[in-house]
Amino acid sequence: MAQSPTPTSRTFGRVHVELVQGDIVRQPDVDAVVNAANAQLRIGGGVAGAIHRAAGSGLEAEAVPLGPIRPGQAVVTGGHGLANRYVIHVLGPVYGLDTPSDELLAEGYRNALRLAEKKEMSSLAFPAISTGAFGYPVEDAAHVALGTIADVALNLQHVRLVRFVLFTARDLAVHQDALAQVTGGDPGEAAP
Ligand code: APR
Repeated sequence: MAQSPTPTSRTFGRVHVELVQGDIVRQPDVDAVVNAANAQLRIGGGVAGAIHRAAGSGLEAEAVPLGPIRPGQAVVTGGHGLANRYVIHVLGPVYGLDTPSDELLAEGYRNALRLAEKKEMSSLAFPAISTGAFGYPVEDAAHVALGTIADVALNLQHVRLVRFVLFTARDLAVHQDALAQVTGGDPGEAAP
């Protein structure tokens, strides 16, 4: 079968952005995983369920007193039973209800990166925030997510790797298309 011509990684300044299909709780090589959280920072379904189950009850005990949080806001906790040192919890917008949804989603990514910088992290892994229970169309969310990373990449002092962990092959393909379309970065840095 022919290789896909679309990139699964690209470099923006000194920041490597990569796309993988996988499970957010199986990313042991990054400093932090990002949780697609609920406002109360409690265990939920989807990403939040997987992260809290893998981390253990200590995560909820640390996180809940930091909430409730607003759409676009992010907070950081320890990783507890996860292999990662930190969890960054982001509340994405409920699509069409928390508005403007695109701006709130971008703000969530920016705030996660701000916390990563503050803690001097060099690597983190994001799920596709808001694209599950919160109903954000994955094509639109992918453009917002990758465009936001590209925009802020040049200002990052510590973060060098941003990984997107997509649950399905389709979501990976959608993000590959979006990454190819994002402007900025170094030409010729696209890797198959
Ligand atoms: N690893 C990576 N991605 C995952 C995983 C996983 N283990 N589980 C689900 N996903 C994908 C979903 O397929 C979706 O594309 O992550 C994306 C985000 O889905 P949700 O977890 O539903 O997050 P979101 O849409 O932001 O909704 C948050 O859902 O579970 C509740 O408590 C949570 O109220 C909050 C809401």
